[in-house]
Amino acid sequence: MQTDNHASRILLGISGGIAAYKAPLLVRNLRTRGADVVPVLTQNASRFVTETALQAVADNRPRTELWDAEAEAAMGHIELARWADAVVIAPATANLIARLANGIADDLLTTLYLATTAPVFIAPAMNVKMWEHAATQRNIQRLRDDGVTVLGPAHGEQACGEFGPGRMIEPQEIAEAVTAAIGTPRVLDGTRVLITAGPTREFLDPVRFISNRSSGRQGFALAEAARNAGAEVTLVAGPVHLSTPTGIERIDVVSAREMKDAVTERAPDADIFVSVAAVADYRPHTVHDQKLKKSQQQSGDFRVALKENEDIVGSIAGVEPRPFVVGFAAETENPLEYAREKRRRKCMDAIVVNDVSDAAIGFDSSDNAVTLIHAGGEVGLPKMPKGAIARRLVDEIATLYASAGRG
Ligand code: PMT
Repeated sequence: MQTDNHASRILLGISGGIAAYKAPLLVRNLRTRGADVVPVLTQNASRFVTETALQAVADNRPRTELWDAEAEAAMGHIELARWADAVVIAPATANLIARLANGIADDLLTTLYLATTAPVFIAPAMNVKMWEHAATQRNIQRLRDDGVTVLGPAHGEQACGEFGPGRMIEPQEIAEAVTAAIGTPRVLDGTRVLITAGPTREFLDPVRFISNRSSGRQGFALAEAARNAGAEVTLVAGPVHLSTPTGIERIDVVSAREMKDAVTERAPDADIFVSVAAVADYRPHTVHDQKLKKSQQQSGDFRVALKENEDIVGSIAGVEPRPFVVGFAAETENPLEYAREKRRRKCMDAIVVNDVSDAAIGFDSSDNAVTLIHAGGEVGLPKMPKGAIARRLVDEIATLYASAGRG
């Protein structure tokens, strides 16, 4: 298990319904948001999802038995119940809900439920008639009265062919609701944060463009962490395949010039600007209206004249009044040296550097490892999921912002 103090620790209970097949996706969603997850399966859950799949995505051994001597020796169930910052049960079947509501502790998951003092979230999943049954509704009400947060269920077509309430809400919605609800200190309460994320595309003709491997994940994770810390977040996103975290205003752009326009328009209203986007430094000098034909190109080598794009973060940081400005630097050699120089040259309050020569971090990977450099010092954050990096950076940025007399 991770030892990072800031990662939230989640016990993910999985009971035996068809929606259990989505549990690995939920683990991934929680981990992306920086959580350390230990899956706990009921006996029936193992019929729908394998321990192997869960172990692979959670990077923690799933727990199934109260009487597993080896697992208990490593961490006893009471210790596990204390370890958790939150218990999430998804899917929660009608049977499990009934056992929880009545305090029956006849397996590991129900015992952990009684033994924990952490907040508990359940995502019910069952047939519509079972959900609407008076007994289930009574049990749900009892759990609500006991302080359990009930997420969903969603309306829609069910695995059994019926239609109505009973489907488990999507893993991403569960992860968002849980991470937003648990213990993020509201260090950015009342601030407005503008963030850029993802790559830009610089078109040569209608089908060809210059771009890079940025997935947007680090920027989106930062937007979510800032929102959880109480900020009002605007996210200017290049072309990425990520859905918008709830409660965040998103502006989609394609080219560096579109990104610059979107940022320039919104920067005067922002307290903090974080430039995570991998903005293309150059664009083709000429953009052709029609797809270039091979015959139109010179034989042999084909040369494209490029024009420099304006530096977005530099243009914001160089003009007063301005928000508190944090840039990123993707370096492949001497990362600290180049980043220190970049921070000074672009007049940024702080810069976050990642060594992108390491394929396991940075561009298009789930983890990152960074150093935050500011006028008063440097903070290194070792390799961890981008969600955890984002939470740590939000803490650091909030402290710098406050000590700059801005907060
Ligand atoms: O999106 P992911 O797959 O999660 O990957 C994350 C990341 C590797 C893209 C991210 O962590 C990162 O390093 N972002 C900055 C990438 C980059 O373009 O670095 P740079 O050293 O070229 O630029 C320095 C700074 O100037 C950056 O803040 C950049 O946003 C900004 N810039 C660059 C060029 C330009 N025309 N305008 C800018 O504002």
